[in-house]
Amino acid sequence: MEAFQVLFVLLLTAAAADGQSLHFGRCPNPPVQKDFNVAKYMGTWYEIEKLPALFERGKCNQASYSLLSDGTVRVHNAELLSNGKINSIEGVAKVKNSTQPAILDVSFFKGVPDSPYWVLSTDYQSYSLVYSCADYYGTFHIDFAWILARTRLLNKEVLSQLHDELVSAGVSINHLAVSDQTGCERAKAKINERPIIGILAQENRTPAPYSTAYIAASYVKFLESAGARVVPIMVNQTAEQYARLFNSINGVLFPGGSASITSSGYQRSAKIFYELAIEANKRGDYFPVWGTCLGYEQLTVLTSGDKLLSRTNTSGVPLPMHFTKEAKQSRMFKSFPAELMEDLASEPLTEHSHKWSVSVLTHNTNNDLKNFYKVLSTNTDGEIEFVSTVEAYDYPIYGTQWHPEKNAFEWRRPYIPHSPSAVKTTFYMAQFFVNEARKNFHRFESEEEERSALIYNYNPVRAVPNSVFEQKYMF
Ligand SMILES: *[C@@H]1O[C@H](CO)[C@@H](O)[C@H](O)[C@H]1NC(C)=O
Ligand SMILES: *[C@@H]1O[C@H](CO)[C@@H](O)[C@H](O)[C@H]1NC(C)=O
Ligand SMILES: *[C@@H]1O[C@H](CO)[C@@H](O)[C@H](O)[C@H]1NC(C)=O
Repeated sequence: MEAFQVLFVLLLTAAAADGQSLHFGRCPNPPVQKDFNVAKYMGTWYEIEKLPALFERGKCNQASYSLLSDGTVRVHNAELLSNGKINSIEGVAKVKNSTQPAILDVSFFKGVPDSPYWVLSTDYQSYSLVYSCADYYGTFHIDFAWILARTRLLNKEVLSQLHDELVSAGVSINHLAVSDQTGCERAKAKINERPIIGILAQENRTPAPYSTAYIAASYVKFLESAGARVVPIMVNQTAEQYARLFNSINGVLFPGGSASITSSGYQRSAKIFYELAIEANKRGDYFPVWGTCLGYEQLTVLTSGDKLLSRTNTSGVPLPMHFTKEAKQSRMFKSFPAELMEDLASEPLTEHSHKWSVSVLTHNTNNDLKNFYKVLSTNTDGEIEFVSTVEAYDYPIYGTQWHPEKNAFEWRRPYIPHSPSAVKTTFYMAQFFVNEARKNFHRFESEEEERSALIYNYNPVRAVPNSVFEQKYMF
């Protein structure tokens, strides 16, 4: 048989087995939504019905569309699998001809042909009817249709109107399948009650006997106080070891200290984890990253590719937070008690120990930083106004130039606040970040591997008298 015939027979057989997506003749040419407004179409749509029910794997199928700066549309499709994991895929949609804005092409993989995406009708706020059809050899066509809605349930009258529309467009709806949108909220709220967070070790500033690197114990206590376990992330591991660890833990913390943020073992491991986190979050995974003090400065270098610091007089001073208007609705602060927010704004509860800062001016004039991070608070040393708290717009990535962990756990400097509100601050910050880490299910491949990675294999030691820390883990 000719290749063409083989393909033809295969497709016919497949179509017969799977439902009627293959039809003789050319694609119909249905009318599309008049004056389609792509901007109003952006956001989340839930799949209510589809034609045909091919590749049915998960449920709670949804699509999120967002407009990119070049006028194309980012497509993020997600579904919930029976094992509780979320399966997602990303693509790009483009309008082919600006005179027909309701006719788009979507591509999910490089090298695979684009699929047509025709918006037959939508009111932007409740329903959308999407059709996709491809002609083969002028002999037959294969088509798909989706009824989407802004909520997981669509009104029956609207639904039957959309069925009529498909029929009058010449589309057979016998095999329209209802998508399962039940049990989605509960599944979404499923949380990981055994989060494990990695903390980066860093090279010792002054050589110490039998030790090359350390983690201040206060960072470990900080995370433990909110119900997480900790794994130290050692300096100088291979990229493969870091990647394996990344897949085993639920978040990462870049602590303060004095390592170089442009060339050090600390910088190298931070960069690897940051890049893995960005990539994972783009895939629909949820992997939080936290940077404290030096860790925040490290984040700004990783995000912008530049060291953009200004010298400030902030070595050892507690300051009140100057919240921006975005703070109240931010992920970080929205569930803080109002009373604590008032205390944070009026009392010096946040301890600063840094010689360098990202000035507000630098932040606002650097597009990489400005577009990536939302500023939640600022402070000033009397001369320079600098950024003190950030959260990334599109990623669970957070930074504080101040030290949330010190209030409850470090006692060696007189400027560390220990008032009840100061200690509450430590706890609410820890709880927020640990809750972020509860949103993914990365885990070690075996209990044995988990056990040997945990910080419990090491003992903290009392730090030398002139240290700023009470206790350190020395590696
Ligand atoms: C876009 O569509 C218009 C009207 O249908 C047509 O005249 C024009 O040639 C098309 N442009 C391109 C680039 O295909
Ligand atoms: C990391 O490797 C470098 C180069 O081999 C070495 O100089 C340094 O001491 C190592 N650091 C640690 C903490 O192991
Ligand atoms: C730095 O700030 C402290 C108060 O925190 C102040 O006493 C000191 O004079 C400042 N130093 C300079 C050089 O501005």
